[in-house]
Amino acid sequence: MHAKVGGDPWFVALVDRFYATVADDPRLRPLYPEDLTESKAHFAGFLIQYWGGPDTYSQQRGHPRLRMRHAPFAIGQVERDAWFEAIDGAVRSGGLSDDDIATFLAYFDMAATAMINQPA
Ligand code: HEM
Repeated sequence: MHAKVGGDPWFVALVDRFYATVADDPRLRPLYPEDLTESKAHFAGFLIQYWGGPDTYSQQRGHPRLRMRHAPFAIGQVERDAWFEAIDGAVRSGGLSDDDIATFLAYFDMAATAMINQPA
């Protein structure tokens, strides 16, 4: 999928759109650091690697261990849904075919639910 959608620049732009929404969302903004530069770089690097591009993310940060890395943040259903809405919008505005949009959204839906670490 990495090459098909346009390589690193497509993922960097996806993450830029995602974080523009995060920065404006009162449910999400407090969870993130003031400066989002590193957050963007890590998320883009992770997605590039996950979807078949270069593995620079793990060379720099090691195994993703996403649940462990999210343990410091209280993620309940509200935060999960806010996060998914933000990535949903970013994916849908990425110029992909309906099939490719569905592929990404199925993954993000599953992954976001897996990150919940607070009881309902
Ligand atoms: C379910 C709601 C989620 C919330 C509220 C959330 C929130 C966060 C926060 C607060 C950070 C730390 C940012 C920083 O310190 O710069 C982070 C990092 C990260 N998140 Fe999420 N996240 C969620 C789901 C996900 C999902 C589903 C993925 C992957 C598909 C993901 C991928 C990442 C990555 C790769 C990092 C950087 C990890 C690193 O330090 O290398 N997150 N997230």
